[in-house]
Amino acid sequence: MTVTHQRGSYEIEFVSKSGLASHVPAATPIITDENVGRLYAGLFPDNPKLLLPAGEEFKNLNSFARCLEWLAESGVKRGQQIVALGGGVIGDLVGFAAAAYMRGVRFIQIPTTLLAQVDSSIGGKVGVDLPQGKNLAGSFHAPSKVLICTELLTTLPKSQFANGMAEVWKYGFIMDADLVKQLSEHPLDAHHPELEAVVRRCIEHKRDVVQADEFETTGLRATLNFGHTIGHALEQMSGYTRYLHGEAISIGMVVEAHLGEKLGVSEPGTSRVVKKCLAGQGLPVTSELLNQQDLLIETMARDKKASGKGLAFSLVTKIGECKLVEGISGQDVKLALQNYG
Ligand SMILES: NC(=O)c1ccc[n+]([C@@H]2O[C@H](COP(=O)([O-])OP(=O)(O)OC[C@H]3O[C@@H](n4cnc5c(N)ncnc54)[C@H](O)[C@@H]3O)[C@@H](O)[C@H]2O)c1
Ligand SMILES: [Zn+2]
Repeated sequence: MTVTHQRGSYEIEFVSKSGLASHVPAATPIITDENVGRLYAGLFPDNPKLLLPAGEEFKNLNSFARCLEWLAESGVKRGQQIVALGGGVIGDLVGFAAAAYMRGVRFIQIPTTLLAQVDSSIGGKVGVDLPQGKNLAGSFHAPSKVLICTELLTTLPKSQFANGMAEVWKYGFIMDADLVKQLSEHPLDAHHPELEAVVRRCIEHKRDVVQADEFETTGLRATLNFGHTIGHALEQMSGYTRYLHGEAISIGMVVEAHLGEKLGVSEPGTSRVVKKCLAGQGLPVTSELLNQQDLLIETMARDKKASGKGLAFSLVTKIGECKLVEGISGQDVKLALQNYG
């Protein structure tokens, strides 16, 4: 599968675990985290490796500096490429290091979480968190290649699989009613024979959207934010420790589906379907943080995506379709939160 972007294009290749190493030249430096390194560093015996501590709290400038210094110490030259082997944290961090090292070297993404395979490894957004906020330093730097191996997902903790499934359901709700039907009838797990086909389908959706709106200028890419306006606020209100991203957006999708119904944008019954699917996946669909309505609305208003025109939401018009709605007021959100739960 090919993704074209402003400066060129890259391939997304589906590979088996035993075939992974043959897609990575022997001397190519690999940066990964300690969990992934423990499980999969052995697949690449001849490559130099840097293992960083795992977790969002290490997606910071310190780790960014460590990557750059390690690349320099290892004598990596401008024409060489590097590999990001891990979840979204490693993909974002190493991608940003690749964007900065010698003013830019090529990098291969090998995403190892479901979330990274269906979302973060595609689209070229890279960066790190600052103490002042998430993803505040970053760049657009497309990978030279993305290698997808769904066999790697079998070692994911259950909560991390569900975390990625929240994004999979999101693609269904906003642009693929057949996917919602399929997942409702045949629940997916890391060993399911359809897993690779579902991952491929989600990647195709993300590819189509980012190709059409690479730099988030037309509003199309913003439709991928269904559940994220509320979800990001919940993550922020809880200091990024309480919920995994997918859990926060799961709650966000249900609330935003309610909002859509209250505004007359979403078909009646949409929120009931969204809630049933996500709860069935073992994802949370409500939070007591939703009771702090003023703080929630204030947090959303501070979000970098809020414009002077009020809050913007990607709302599902009916299952499988969505549109971006701007100019939504805090009062509208409060209405949606009445009798919520
Ligand atoms: N760039 C983008 O467009 C974009 C989009 C969405 C999310 N993100 C970013 O992605 C990050 C979240 O990514 P994530 O959910 O993959 O988290 P993560 O990278 O922290 O991985 C989650 C956990 O799973 C472990 N792990 C990874 N692969 C494993 C495997 N195969 N088996 C066992 N354990 C494994 C990791 O060590 C980690 O502990 C956030 O920082 C978010 O901002 C970026
Ligand atoms: Zn997301």
